[in-house]
Amino acid sequence: MSVIPVYNCFHPVLKKKTEPVTEIDDSLVKLVNDMFETMHKAEGIGLAANQVGVSKSLLVVDIGFFNEKYTGPPILMINPVITDFSDEIYEYEEGCLSIPNVRDIVERPKMIQVSYFDLDMKEKLIEADNLLSRVVQHEIDHLNGILFYERLTPLRKTLLKSKLKKIEKGQYETDYPMVLPDGTLLQPKK
Ligand code: NI
Repeated sequence: MSVIPVYNCFHPVLKKKTEPVTEIDDSLVKLVNDMFETMHKAEGIGLAANQVGVSKSLLVVDIGFFNEKYTGPPILMINPVITDFSDEIYEYEEGCLSIPNVRDIVERPKMIQVSYFDLDMKEKLIEADNLLSRVVQHEIDHLNGILFYERLTPLRKTLLKSKLKKIEKGQYETDYPMVLPDGTLLQPKK
C-alpha cells in the first residue's frame, strides 16, 4: 500500500463523470488499498477514485476515527447509487482533500439509501444517516463530477472566489502530494 497523489479540484478529471467498474482485477484491489492509505494519511473521511486521478465509479469511507460513536468498519463502495433519500434536510460543514483550506456549510438530505457492490461484486443496500450519509453523498457527487462548493448558495460561492483562485494556482500547501490542474505534482514540504 502506498500514499498516492490527490488531484486538485480544478483538474479536469474531477469535472468528468466516472465510468462504472466492470471487473475486479489486481490493479483495482491495489487502487482500493492505496485509496484507504491515502485517505487515512491525509486525515480524510472519504475519498472518490477520481480524486486520485482514476475515472472509475468507486469510493472509500471511514468515519471511525472522526466519530468515536461510530463503530462500523471502513467501507468500499463500487458503482454506488443513491436509491432513496429523506425529505429532511440538514446543514453541515464540509471540506474536501481536493479543495484544501475550504470548509463551508452544505445542505443535504439527512438520510439516504444507497446500493453498491463490494470487492466480491456482491450487491449491497444500506441506509445511512448523519455523518455517514453526508460523506457518501459528497463522494458520490465526486463520481458524478460535482464539487461541494457547487452546492453552496450564490452568496457563499461568491465569498469563496479568491480562495478558489489560489487553489487553482496551487498556492495552498497540503501535507499530502497533490496534482495541480496542469498536471504538476506538488510534494508536501514536511
Ligand atoms: Ni471531496
